[in-house]
Amino acid sequence: MNIKSLRLIHFRNYENVEFNFKENCIHCFYGKNAQGKTNLIESIYFLSHLHSFRTHSLDSLIKESYHQMLIEAKVESGHTLSKVKVVVCDQKKHLFHNDNPIKKYSDFVGIVNAISFCPDDILLFSAPKKIRRNFIDMELIKLSKKYTFTLSRYNRYLKNRNIALKQEKIDKDLIDVYTSQMIEDEIVIMKQRKNFIKNLMEYSNRLYPFFSSQKEVLSAKYETFVDTSQDLKEQIVKSYENTYVKDCMYKATNMGIHRDDIQFLLNDKNINEMASQGQKRSYLLAMKLGLAQMVYEKTNQYPILLLDDVFSELDTIRKKELIQILPENMQIFITSAEEMDPSLFKNRKVKFYKVNNGFAKEVSQ
Ligand SMILES: Nc1ncnc2c1ncn2[C@@H]1O[C@H](COP(=O)(O)OP(=O)(O)OP(=O)(O)O)[C@@H](O)[C@H]1O
Ligand SMILES: [Mg+2]
Repeated sequence: MNIKSLRLIHFRNYENVEFNFKENCIHCFYGKNAQGKTNLIESIYFLSHLHSFRTHSLDSLIKESYHQMLIEAKVESGHTLSKVKVVVCDQKKHLFHNDNPIKKYSDFVGIVNAISFCPDDILLFSAPKKIRRNFIDMELIKLSKKYTFTLSRYNRYLKNRNIALKQEKIDKDLIDVYTSQMIEDEIVIMKQRKNFIKNLMEYSNRLYPFFSSQKEVLSAKYETFVDTSQDLKEQIVKSYENTYVKDCMYKATNMGIHRDDIQFLLNDKNINEMASQGQKRSYLLAMKLGLAQMVYEKTNQYPILLLDDVFSELDTIRKKELIQILPENMQIFITSAEEMDPSLFKNRKVKFYKVNNGFAKEVSQ
């Protein structure tokens, strides 16, 4: 997948800019701090996920003293060209695909599949479990329509079940109807989550040695409320029966895949409890590149890779190694506060841009 062109109007510190990007090329944006490098990467991420990796506030994405912003891109995917556009105004996102309005976010997410790596990503390990769950969900949503559909239906049933639990007189029959509908969806979601995590860790393990000279094994444990190696339906049914009284007391559904978590392990120990910052960074880099590889195997094309400030803590050898393992048929965007040495990119298609206060100018090397 490739972004052929990108237009930003009143996005962050960009007034009105347009870029033409090259297919399967590494695009390097460098410049002093606070010039707009991460903003650029953020705009591509937003097109892919419909949210930012650093804020929940839509207003902060709009350039100061304006009321709306636009991100538009022409995207090549499997030799087909399409146009995607997001306009944000009045706290709302307006979506367009080939100039047709799109109502459902789920019909838009994944048209652009971008995977990012940002310095703050290591917070994933210490964040509340919702953040880890969202990470898995987002990737599965981009990859599987069935997952998207099933998860949103589950959430609807869950909402209805919780409303039913909040009534003065609880209708047990109604609750049972919602519960049995939720169970069918939970089985699908659990299987997909478990499978996704297993595959992701297999790919990540293959890449980790590029970032660490130590012999270490990455793994992850999918944590849900039943034992996923046993028959799911029987266990889930029993669990809901056992917590029914508690659910009535709390007036909410205490059990379900909406409470799932993932434990990331390094040599069988929770990464959060023992790993150094450097190890966490390497773990995440391996995981993000593993994810890209996994997407490739599934869809036959690489996602777009966004690497924000990835070089800052790598020595020259590691930088070179990182660039060498990046697949050649992948479009990549890299930011750096320092000018990048062109010799790092030997035999690669590469373009350099200097970013200065909301302007990015291509520079020849
Ligand atoms: N809504 C907005 N309107 C105007 N300017 C904004 C807006 N949001 C952010 N900015 C400006 O964008 C700049 C930050 O951009 P960005 O985070 O892309 O910096 P950067 O080039 O990645 O810097 P660093 O090297 O420190 O990571 C800041 O100057 C900030 O004031
Ligand atoms: Mg930055």
